[in-house]
Amino acid sequence: MSIAGVTVVDHPLVQHKLSLLRDRETSFANFRRLVREIGTLLGYEATRDLPLALHEIETPVSPMQAPFIEGKKLCVVPILRAGLGLADGVVDLVPLARIGHVGLYRDPETLIAVEYYFKVPPDIDQRLVLVCDPMLATAHSAIAAVDRLKQAGAAHMKLLCIIAAPEGAQLFVEAHPDVPVFTGSIDERLNDHAYIVPGLGDAGDRLFGTR
Ligand code: PRP
Ligand code: URA
Repeated sequence: MSIAGVTVVDHPLVQHKLSLLRDRETSFANFRRLVREIGTLLGYEATRDLPLALHEIETPVSPMQAPFIEGKKLCVVPILRAGLGLADGVVDLVPLARIGHVGLYRDPETLIAVEYYFKVPPDIDQRLVLVCDPMLATAHSAIAAVDRLKQAGAAHMKLLCIIAAPEGAQLFVEAHPDVPVFTGSIDERLNDHAYIVPGLGDAGDRLFGTR
């Protein structure tokens, strides 16, 4: 399945790690490690179009004009809780990025995203913001997070998730067509509890061992 505005990162390493992640037998420790590694690989794809500029350096052999990333600075924003694990992998790639936090939980009855924390750098308007959440299910959480980041001034964002439901991905790109999505998979559907099928279960609980 393809959805305009959603890039499925079909690199074999992402797909292999995602299969390990989905397996119910995968331990908490391995789950955390895999989420982080997938975060790095999604971050690599999402930063592919960062602009480069040449600067003079000297190698041990000769001077050269060498390419460096230039332009917008970065901000990585995990949606709490489960986004923390994914953001760690992105920050491994861009250690100088600032980190913001959006605390949201999905009310299990209404499925509405409820905000409980918000903190981002004051110059968020000048940064490329990489919003991280492993699961894009109904998309209520991701849409609310991006709404809130826009209110705070963010103008240039990308959303990184490990698994998207087709319904949620479609809703997200309609709500925020200016925010490209990078995901490891668009799965089959949502079930009656709005869990992604086949998915990987509850990302936060598997990441932190809370169930
Ligand atoms: C999970 C997940 C997403 C959200 C996705 O968070 O990490 O944030 O659900 O669902 P949605 O697309 O239907 O909004 P949860 O609310 O379980 O909180 P947690 O990360 O603190 O466990
Ligand atoms: N949140 C999760 O952690 N998993 C899902 O499948 C849906 C929402």
